[in-house]
Amino acid sequence: MLLVKARPEIEELAPYVQGQSSIDGIENPIKLSSNESPLGPSPKAIEAYSHKATNLFRYPDGGQSELRGAIADVYGLDPARIICGNGSEELMQIMIRTFLGAGDEAIISEYCFGICKLHAFAQGAVVRTAKEPDCMMSVDNILAEVTEKTKLVAISTPNNPPGTYMSKSELHRLHAALPKHVLLLVDGAYAEYVTASDYDCGLGLAKDASNVIVTRTFSKLYGLAGLRIGWSYGPAYIIELMQRLRTPFNANAAAMAAAAAAIADREYADKIRDYNNSWRDKMMTALSGLGLHVYPSVTNFILMRFPESHHSPEGAWTHLIADGIIPRPVNSGGPERCLRVSVGLAEENEAFIRSITSYMRT
Ligand SMILES: Cc1ncc(COP(=O)(O)O)c(C=O)c1O
Repeated sequence: MLLVKARPEIEELAPYVQGQSSIDGIENPIKLSSNESPLGPSPKAIEAYSHKATNLFRYPDGGQSELRGAIADVYGLDPARIICGNGSEELMQIMIRTFLGAGDEAIISEYCFGICKLHAFAQGAVVRTAKEPDCMMSVDNILAEVTEKTKLVAISTPNNPPGTYMSKSELHRLHAALPKHVLLLVDGAYAEYVTASDYDCGLGLAKDASNVIVTRTFSKLYGLAGLRIGWSYGPAYIIELMQRLRTPFNANAAAMAAAAAAIADREYADKIRDYNNSWRDKMMTALSGLGLHVYPSVTNFILMRFPESHHSPEGAWTHLIADGIIPRPVNSGGPERCLRVSVGLAEENEAFIRSITSYMRT
């Protein structure tokens, strides 16, 4: 008999479901389920990581100075206003724990990263979801949810699973219309891939405004998902409050060394972006040619919607799995009749296109 009772908010949480990584009976499946960077990190990041192997008995630098400095150099930021975390998801958690309490309201855009909703619930906050019609974030829908209890608005731009973004003018319209005591979180996990001229990752707003915070990650374009390292930038007083909740050694030494080397290697980052964007566009064209609705992704993944026919995401999933390819099903609550795939290595993308083509011809 269980006598120990958790808080009801926690009992009600649904566990996070990670992208599948294996297929029974298939030795080396093609994993296109977690938006990882298939070419891996910069060789300079691997070298910095290996170098740390000789020093593993030392605690990390709890002040995170080297990495904060490297990030600040690339983006022209004040290093004192940067905080690093065990993935950007840890920083979202710290930020939510810092600002939301029981009864506060958070407005979370429909396809914002799910961790925000989870932690807001865990704090006992009320979560209001702003619908994203046709997978596009809507400033009007967000503003319609604002009440006097609103403390946080969270968006991911680009969002996930659609991979679409909020334009600069819309982001600024949203910020200008929000009451100044409402914190705006701009999650830019895929910002490094975006080349659209009307995209704004929010760093400019976070520099100047008193209520904007940005989160970024090394898990995607920088290929360091396994090390768990991300960063956040915001007003000095917000970062200072978050620092009080951060555990002193939340980011490990090898992760910070690798991330500092990765962000400094601009040539490699450009190469990865070009590789990804060219394959993503080829894959999107191939999928549209098969009669699938393809959302205009600016990221390293693609969301496709199946037409109302005998073709379905479930059927495609079974077909792809049989061919040794793992896509990402879109869980309940996500866009209907959809399946998501990440951009992989050239031969993996070709195998995926062959397999989905053969399915769509059945
Ligand atoms: C939209 C979005 N934001 C944030 C994250 C979190 O990234 P990480 O915790 O690896 O930094 C992800 C991870 O998949 C994501 O898709």
